[in-house]
Amino acid sequence: MKVLVIGSGAREHAIITSLMADDSVSEVVAAPGNAGIAREVDTRPVDVTDPVAVADLAVDVAAELVVIGPEVPLVAGVADAVRDRGIACFGPSAEAAQLEGSKAFAKQVMAEAGVPTAMAHVCTGIDEVESALDQFGPPYVVKDDGLAAGKGVVVTSDRAEAVAHARAILSKGYGVQTVIEEYLDGEEVSLFAITDGTTVLPLQPAQDFKRAGEGDTGPNTGGMGAYSPLPWAPPTLTADVTERVLQPMVDVMRHRGTPFAGLLYAGLAMTSRGVRVIEFNARFGDPETQVVLANLRSPLGRVLMAAATGHLADVPPLVWQSGYSVTVVIAAEGYPTSPRTGDVISGLERAAEEVNVDIFHAGTTITDEGAIASSGGRVLSITAHGETLARAREHAYAAVDLIRLEGSHHRRDIAARAATEG
Ligand SMILES: Nc1ncnc2c1ncn2[C@@H]1O[C@H](COP(=O)(O)OP(=O)(O)OP(=O)(O)O)[C@@H](O)[C@H]1O
Ligand SMILES: [Mg+2]
Repeated sequence: MKVLVIGSGAREHAIITSLMADDSVSEVVAAPGNAGIAREVDTRPVDVTDPVAVADLAVDVAAELVVIGPEVPLVAGVADAVRDRGIACFGPSAEAAQLEGSKAFAKQVMAEAGVPTAMAHVCTGIDEVESALDQFGPPYVVKDDGLAAGKGVVVTSDRAEAVAHARAILSKGYGVQTVIEEYLDGEEVSLFAITDGTTVLPLQPAQDFKRAGEGDTGPNTGGMGAYSPLPWAPPTLTADVTERVLQPMVDVMRHRGTPFAGLLYAGLAMTSRGVRVIEFNARFGDPETQVVLANLRSPLGRVLMAAATGHLADVPPLVWQSGYSVTVVIAAEGYPTSPRTGDVISGLERAAEEVNVDIFHAGTTITDEGAIASSGGRVLSITAHGETLARAREHAYAAVDLIRLEGSHHRRDIAARAATEG
């Protein structure tokens, strides 16, 4: 089958690498892709937020399956537009993608499904905000209801900062909402499930590192690294979360008449009182996808096609290779505030020769001279496998250390704590 992958990050590069390893996939086209993706498959320019443009492209390249990476096109209805042309699409409808597109909507569905999550107030005015903040007390959690490219959430013990963030959200326009929540403690886990709207197929759990600095300091980012699976997690975690969170959400969405088919991402907090949902996303997470797919041995194309066409119940149990994967993100100088772009990257060939390493590109482009240069905040996602987490880290950092990008930064402590247990 011929697959069109929409997106341009390391997540999409990892998805494409897994698709190419599936013998049922004859060809992959990526749009718009990046420099690393373009070395492996045909790429096409496209405005990923334009449903008609993406659907036209799917017809044009004769795609039999379209896989949508990022959330913005999903919320914009790109999956609906592709399906309207009679092409299978892995990605939820715009209505179902509201699980990510509106945190207030997600809370409502979670309440209907009996899914454990943080207590929350959805507020439209600053007086409501202040009383919700005082009800829960510090640390305060203030969220933008809608998509905010990772900048929507502030967690702070400074009440004035919490109020200021809520004010900034509410000032964006009439009817805008902010969600004020109870603070959840404990380790965070990302658990992905592939679903066709009825059957739920969980993947292995992962953990990502959101802060820019080592020891979880500094500003929030899109993610500076990840590892999977989790040596410290209870062996029943995936089954428990599937039964108590993922399946009930999928069932309620179907009963509401807006089935969720695609990738349901549960962001979880392992609190002292049990597992709580922090948020849902409607797509593969980046950088967790790089490590989750690195361990998956089942043919990804077949599984995604089954999910897109309502046949997930017929898919055999997923097969995982033993061991662990780690990914380390190399970010441009100034990321996340104001990343510097246009710097040439060297050492990529040597790094790719390191054992068990995959170099996934994110913000990269090819210069007029044919060199690879940075073009975004997160530039590369260096992914490695090992029989132990410690080994996976060694391989990943050996490759990272061969790459030169002026001014770049990365964290040295990805999976370091967990490696002492796995
Ligand atoms: N109730 C909470 N208690 C404690 N921390 C929280 C809470 N809600 C969110 N956070 C922290 O803020 C981060 C971002 O929150 P959330 O996942 O809801 O936002 P997002 O912008 O949709 O993130 P993403 O980019 O992962 O989709 C979480 O990963 C978590 O670290
Ligand atoms: Mg989110």
